[in-house]
Amino acid sequence: MSDPAALEAALLKGSTRIVWIETPANPLWTITDIARVADIAHGVGAILVVDSTVATPVFTNPLALGADIVMHSATKYLNGHSDVLAGMLVTRKADEVWEQIALARSSGGAILGPQQAALLVRGMRTLHLRVRAASEAALTIAKHFVDYPNIVEVLYPGLESHPGHEIAAQQMQGGFGAMLSLRIKGGEAAAIQVAANVKIWKRATSLGGVESLIEHRASMEGPATPVPEDLLRLSVGLEHVEDLIDDLQQALSEVS
Ligand SMILES: Cc1ncc(COP(=O)(O)O)c(C=O)c1O
Repeated sequence: MSDPAALEAALLKGSTRIVWIETPANPLWTITDIARVADIAHGVGAILVVDSTVATPVFTNPLALGADIVMHSATKYLNGHSDVLAGMLVTRKADEVWEQIALARSSGGAILGPQQAALLVRGMRTLHLRVRAASEAALTIAKHFVDYPNIVEVLYPGLESHPGHEIAAQQMQGGFGAMLSLRIKGGEAAAIQVAANVKIWKRATSLGGVESLIEHRASMEGPATPVPEDLLRLSVGLEHVEDLIDDLQQALSEVS
């Protein structure tokens, strides 16, 4: 999806109905040019759906860039407190696609319970503050571990070295999000050891909550995964950024 020519070649005019992208995308934080892909999708009569969970509505507005549907896992930043499972679809207008979605939702019974809805509304009141703080901390952590002894690579779209940085800087307003990945010198065993050594970061797979999470991504995805085995995925929360950095440093120092 980050190669527009390859995407263009893969689409079939008149028969491709949906182009679905995630940007920044797990777990390398690959960036897709939303406006460019919207043009390509519309050119063959398809619609563009953007999973914008990681960017959040604070940093990116895919509808303004030409997307037709935006999806958020509201489980993540929108709720922000790791205690709700919810999702959200947003369309530009109440068109035929929207009517199909609304029908599938009501006839399938995918209706949020009142307690979950109340928690989600409460979480969203602080969305703009939480994601800005977490994104600033993520940038600080990313910069800190570039050129760090046991780190092979820091993957974060806010770093100029990231292949998607230029496009991210155009389509993300005010921050690059709070997800990043570290590739650990020593491969899989070293990465797993670092994840085991941290004390403040919690080992878990979700993202977007107030607590910072770390996971060995390849283990979560299983043997067929293309994810590098030395990669740790980090979801930066709202703890003090120096505590988070100190914790990673002590975890790294324990690895031979
Ligand atoms: C980018 C992204 N989209 C969608 C999902 C699915 O969300 P949920 O856990 O709310 O089903 C996840 C996480 O699981 C995610 O990281």
